[in-house]
Amino acid sequence: MSIHPLPPPKEPVGLGRLPVARWFLFTGAVAGVAFVAGAVVTMLMLAEAQALNPPPGVAAQMGRVHAALIVLFAVLLACGAGLAVIVRYAVLKPIDQLTDQVRQVAAGDFDHTLHVDRPAELAELSSHIDAMRDRIVSAWRVAADQAEELRRSNGELEQFAYVASHDLQEPLRKVASFTQMLEQRYGSELDERARQYIHYAVDGAKRMQLLINDLLDFSRVGRVTGERTVTDSGEALNQALDNLSATVEDTETTVTRDDLPKVKGNRLQLTQLFQNLIENAIKFRSEAPPRIHIGVKRSGDMWEFSCSDNGIGVEPKYADRIFLIFQRLHPRDVYPGTGIGLALCRKIVEYHGGQMWLDNSDEGQGATFRWTLPAAGDDDD
Ligand SMILES: Nc1ncnc2c1ncn2[C@@H]1O[C@H](COP(=O)(O)OP(=O)(O)OP(=O)(O)O)[C@@H](O)[C@H]1O
Ligand SMILES: [Mg+2]
Repeated sequence: MSIHPLPPPKEPVGLGRLPVARWFLFTGAVAGVAFVAGAVVTMLMLAEAQALNPPPGVAAQMGRVHAALIVLFAVLLACGAGLAVIVRYAVLKPIDQLTDQVRQVAAGDFDHTLHVDRPAELAELSSHIDAMRDRIVSAWRVAADQAEELRRSNGELEQFAYVASHDLQEPLRKVASFTQMLEQRYGSELDERARQYIHYAVDGAKRMQLLINDLLDFSRVGRVTGERTVTDSGEALNQALDNLSATVEDTETTVTRDDLPKVKGNRLQLTQLFQNLIENAIKFRSEAPPRIHIGVKRSGDMWEFSCSDNGIGVEPKYADRIFLIFQRLHPRDVYPGTGIGLALCRKIVEYHGGQMWLDNSDEGQGATFRWTLPAAGDDDD
């Protein structure tokens, strides 16, 4: 399985950089030297005392002290060596083993079992770490399976939306055109009510055509025209304004903007994003001529864009609903449209790895939409 290996561990600082074994060697060496020096000095002093011809009782006592010192020295030496062996084999080696195993797991082999069987404390620690590894890996597997399942069903849904909207177009076109032909050919023979019914049928068919086309556009995001390169978002905005030039002029709209950056994105989709937002800002205008500002600020690896207007605004309680496909807040005869624009914008932004939301923080007039897009790397310029 593939989880990214963990980053290398942080380097220890200060005295902590010295491995424990070195500390043991160092303190052992100091203790050994001190002890040998002490023993040698004592023996030399004993030898000097012997040379002074002490009385036989004192000489015998000194001989015993001499022997006791030699035995003590031998016992301490044996204890020191024993301690070194114990530390080496009962502590340092198992720690090394555990470190090797942990390193292997950290490097990406998440199925590697962690286990040392001595000493008791390390055995317990290793079994806790292994239980933790096991639980994390199981949880990760479940999450990975679910993500895969989600991706698959998402793909199927998109495919379904595409096929349905694509294949429904043809029969619908037939319904619309034959109903219109019916009206043209037999209109004079029909009464007013029949003509009204035909008008409703044609109107319904045309509306359905619009919805199906929108659905097709929606299902295309990320499936077709998906290439993302370094794109100048300012140029995408220029293109969108160009496409809307007639509307902008008719409505005396003023569009201002910050200096827009380069992003990693798809030019066509970014143009569509700006176009939908500006179209909305103009469509949902108030009495005053529309004023729209496109802003941008850096936020980590992303650029956060905003589109604010001086229009009728959106009530905060509808902040989520307006992004749903075919969801609108106004009747069609007041403001035309199918309700796909913002759903499409959000899908485009999410396809680019960003997020989009309605900014409720500003209680003033108008609406502000915000979205993030990945910045082009500094060396991508
Ligand atoms: N700038 C805005 N000011 C006020 N309301 C807005 C604004 N933008 C969107 N809305 C509200 O959000 C709803 C959804 O917008 P969306 O763009 O998805 O649909 P639409 O514009 O009604 O139709 P379409 O985009 O398909 O022509 C709109 O019906 C409107 O009520
Ligand atoms: Mg719209």
